[in-house]
Amino acid sequence: MSAVRCDAITKVYTEGGGVREFTVEIQQGEFFALLGPSGCGKTTTLRVIAGLETPDSGKLFFGDQNVTALPPEKRNAAMVFQSYALFPHMTVFENVAFGLRARKLPKPEIATRVAESLALVQLESLDKRPVTDLSGGQQQRVALARAIAVRPDILLLDEPLSNLDAELRYATRTQLSELQKRLGITAIYVTHDQEEAVELAHRIAVLKDGACHQIGTPHEILHNPATPFVSSFLERQRAAMKK
Ligand SMILES: Nc1ncnc2c1ncn2[C@@H]1O[C@H](COP(=O)(O)OP(=O)(O)OP(=O)(O)O)[C@@H](O)[C@H]1O
Ligand SMILES: [Mg+2]
Repeated sequence: MSAVRCDAITKVYTEGGGVREFTVEIQQGEFFALLGPSGCGKTTTLRVIAGLETPDSGKLFFGDQNVTALPPEKRNAAMVFQSYALFPHMTVFENVAFGLRARKLPKPEIATRVAESLALVQLESLDKRPVTDLSGGQQQRVALARAIAVRPDILLLDEPLSNLDAELRYATRTQLSELQKRLGITAIYVTHDQEEAVELAHRIAVLKDGACHQIGTPHEILHNPATPFVSSFLERQRAAMKK
């Protein structure tokens, strides 16, 4: 059985942007990437899966449960937002502990999980620091730790490494991939960077203007692009990388 199934999901904003008729089955433990240029509907798709947007039409399943109308807190999914969305008046520790306290875990368990999650993103020494006194990259890593700490079945990641410098991005990417495998979490990862998608994902969906052009393994996408757009998007990115 698939972990996440989108069945013709459509969410179109009044101005016309969004996602149309998106259909996919994502397997338990799969690392799945949504790839495409700015404005193609990646965040919209992720927000629908998280329950932060209600689709205009289509159905969403987690396992065999229809979760289309279920509020976000009743889905065992955690999202890392493009804009981090940290709690500004709290320390690093309190931010990472937030979801664990909401789940009423015992204090020692909370302390262990926060420490584990912060170690993973190499921020264990900053646990007492207010998040407003961190750099953008550090804040991004706190957001990642906060999502991982609740051990979600489904981890939704919206460009979670975009504010890290190249070295840290590479290191965090590797750790994220190892962690995802170790915990067996299903991950849906939004990026506009094909290299990141190809490195991390088992399969990739390529979107443009709210339409899905292809779903396939990195090898299929790279060697057998389904539409002229997929081919030209990958080509442009390759050319940009060589510069
Ligand atoms: N709340 C909203 N109200 C109206 N239009 C929106 C809203 N959110 C997104 N859109 C529009 O829907 C389209 C898809 O937006 P979305 O945020 O899903 O793109 P994206 O692929 O995540 O882009 P980026 O890579 O820039 O983050 C865009 O044209 C955007 O302007
Ligand atoms: Mg986005």
